[in-house]
Amino acid sequence: MAPGIAPKPAAPLMAAQPKKPGHMLVLGTGFVGRYVSERLLAQGWQVSGTCTSAAKKMELEKLGMNASVFDATRSNLANLHAMQDATHLLISIPPIPGVGDPLLSSHNDLQRTLTDGNLQWLCYLSSTGVYGDCGGAWVDEDRVVNPNKESSKLRYAAEEGWLDLVDELDLSAFVLRLGGIYGPGRSALDTIAKRKSLSRTQKLRESKQYTARIHVADIYQAIMASMGVRSARKIYNVVDDDPAPRAEVFAFAQSLIEKIYPDLATDSAGPDSQDRIIAGEKRVSNARLKEELGVRLVHPSYRSGLQSILDSWLAESTTSGKM
Ligand SMILES: NC(=O)c1ccc[n+]([C@@H]2O[C@H](COP(=O)([O-])OP(=O)(O)OC[C@H]3O[C@@H](n4cnc5c(N)ncnc54)[C@H](OP(=O)(O)O)[C@@H]3O)[C@@H](O)[C@H]2O)c1
Repeated sequence: MAPGIAPKPAAPLMAAQPKKPGHMLVLGTGFVGRYVSERLLAQGWQVSGTCTSAAKKMELEKLGMNASVFDATRSNLANLHAMQDATHLLISIPPIPGVGDPLLSSHNDLQRTLTDGNLQWLCYLSSTGVYGDCGGAWVDEDRVVNPNKESSKLRYAAEEGWLDLVDELDLSAFVLRLGGIYGPGRSALDTIAKRKSLSRTQKLRESKQYTARIHVADIYQAIMASMGVRSARKIYNVVDDDPAPRAEVFAFAQSLIEKIYPDLATDSAGPDSQDRIIAGEKRVSNARLKEELGVRLVHPSYRSGLQSILDSWLAESTTSGKM
């Protein structure tokens, strides 16, 4: 397999499981949504999901999902057939700049739709960006949020909107605040393999002293573990143990990749050496995730996460004889 292509799903990870497979509806079957869906399908779940294009719909159907093209700015959630039947709802559509979360624009209708169905569990995928700059301090979920960017303000409003919406409903509701997401097909290794230069924004992010990140396998673990507990309005940070700067991650990825694919060695994907490291931001704590949900991270650091991605490339190359 060529570097940068996501491998087929591995065996399901160990995590707390609901007693029997349900029906998951994923609103926004992107990187995380697809990873979760593939694994639930492998465990006998019925999985429905939305996307924004007909081409993507076909891809999702090939996996065995009931897929729908759904534009949150135009389509009505109540018209999604799976809304009547789904037992679990994963919300992965980000807020729209200048608009906010379009799904929340009609509170009463949405609440009625959720009440009329079979829903037991709802999870909104958020971001650690809601904490803003905390001067390099460790922050947990009790930290008063201070979103400084417009996107983070909209994200926090969406968190509140979803939690308020389910307040009067009898179901478990979770907000997972995710660090920067990486995994097979989306990582520093993939950036290098595709010889992509970093955008100016990425370079600026790279100069931060601390960067929260999480491997998609551990997001999946957190989601599954949350299904095993009954809880309303619960927020969890989903990040690894190692908030290393992006420059360090890229240097490690370069060193890994150079050993195996010397022709992919390049400076273009790396950090801009002129960027100064900005002290501050925050270090996000995952203590609650470990203590309350019992999650044991598969990849506590980017090191094992990236190594596992490289290992999967090598395993795939060996079986296809393309080393
Ligand atoms: N990337 C990160 O590092 C990061 C970090 C923290 C939090 N998050 C957030 O965590 C969630 C999951 O992340 P991800 O990386 O899996 O996201 P992703 O790959 O970008 O997936 C987002 C999904 O939302 C759908 N979508 C976007 N705009 C839409 C609209 N107007 N109407 C309907 N659907 C729409 C996309 O449709 P298509 O599939 O058709 O494109 C896609 O399925 C997202 O909300 C993301 O913003 C991301």
